[in-house]
Amino acid sequence: MTNPTTAVGNNPAIETANGISDEGLVAPRQHLLDLDDLSAGEINDLLDSAEGMLEIAGRDNRKTPALRGKTIITMFFENSTRTRVSFEQAGKILGADVINVTASASSVSKGESLLNTVKTLQAMQIDALVVRHPHSGASYFISNHTDASVVNAGDGTHAHPTQSLLDLFTVRNHIGDMTGKKIAIVGDVLYSRVARSNILAFQKMGAEVTVSCPNTLIPDEWNLGSTLGDETGFGGLKLARNVDEAVDSADVVMALRIQQERQDAGHLPSLREYSDRWGINAQRMALANDGALLMHPGPMNEGVEISSEVAHGAQSVVEEQVRNGVAVRMAVLYTLCAPGKSTRIGNSESTSGDEA
Ligand code: CP
Repeated sequence: MTNPTTAVGNNPAIETANGISDEGLVAPRQHLLDLDDLSAGEINDLLDSAEGMLEIAGRDNRKTPALRGKTIITMFFENSTRTRVSFEQAGKILGADVINVTASASSVSKGESLLNTVKTLQAMQIDALVVRHPHSGASYFISNHTDASVVNAGDGTHAHPTQSLLDLFTVRNHIGDMTGKKIAIVGDVLYSRVARSNILAFQKMGAEVTVSCPNTLIPDEWNLGSTLGDETGFGGLKLARNVDEAVDSADVVMALRIQQERQDAGHLPSLREYSDRWGINAQRMALANDGALLMHPGPMNEGVEISSEVAHGAQSVVEEQVRNGVAVRMAVLYTLCAPGKSTRIGNSESTSGDEA
């Protein structure tokens, strides 16, 4: 899926009062809806920006005026801990005003449509909307009805681009160049937006991605034991016959959350069997390369897709993923809402370049 509303144009380097530089950042995009139309270079530029943000986020006094005067709304129509809190923290560290809207506490609960909610928020002169929604494509719809920058914080089974960026950032910090590195993704490939985004993201960085999951949790036309062709959009993706094959010699092992409702829907015989056959535990991690990273996007079902021993063991970077999420989301918000760029009513043609 491409981003139909991407703004293009070059953004000259800007050194702001707080030391955040735009140098190296790519052409300003208005929205971040998916990673599929970002080049590896653009992704690396965002990750480079996140390096600086990580340093800022680690300071004792980490408040910066970088986005002072900007208003960011986080609009979550699904539960979230990591993504919502880290976007709020990211916006606040950058000096923006951050307002949280949840479906249950908004007029959505009185029957207001998504379109009218967006128009209402737009009328309050907002700069960015961070949206999580249970329906795939919701953030695309919203981006067509607002001048604000829209960030997809997870839409249905489709995409979770900032999760993938923080996962790439975490892996890059440990192993550097990902070309030829083996990434094993284990779990619900059919319904997981994290799986889809991460397969695309790691492949873009030159990694070899292998997935392992029950036959009932991959698309019907995919066959375990095969390698996908380019026509699928995931060319080169290996579909392992079993989890040991996927994890064997891996540099990164990523376990995905198994939603309990999949069992109710008949996709899984039982959670115990899932844990036995696909759960990541110490025995399986021993098949991976020495020093392999263990990742999980969270929230974890310990004892189902991941054992407690490895979830909190020496190879686990789960907490690091969460910490990096703040820096990556700072980079995303800054890139989209950088000084000199206004998407407010009356300024719908984004300007770029001069610091405000
Ligand atoms: N990984 C992730 O999206 O977690 P939350 O649902 O807690 O935001």
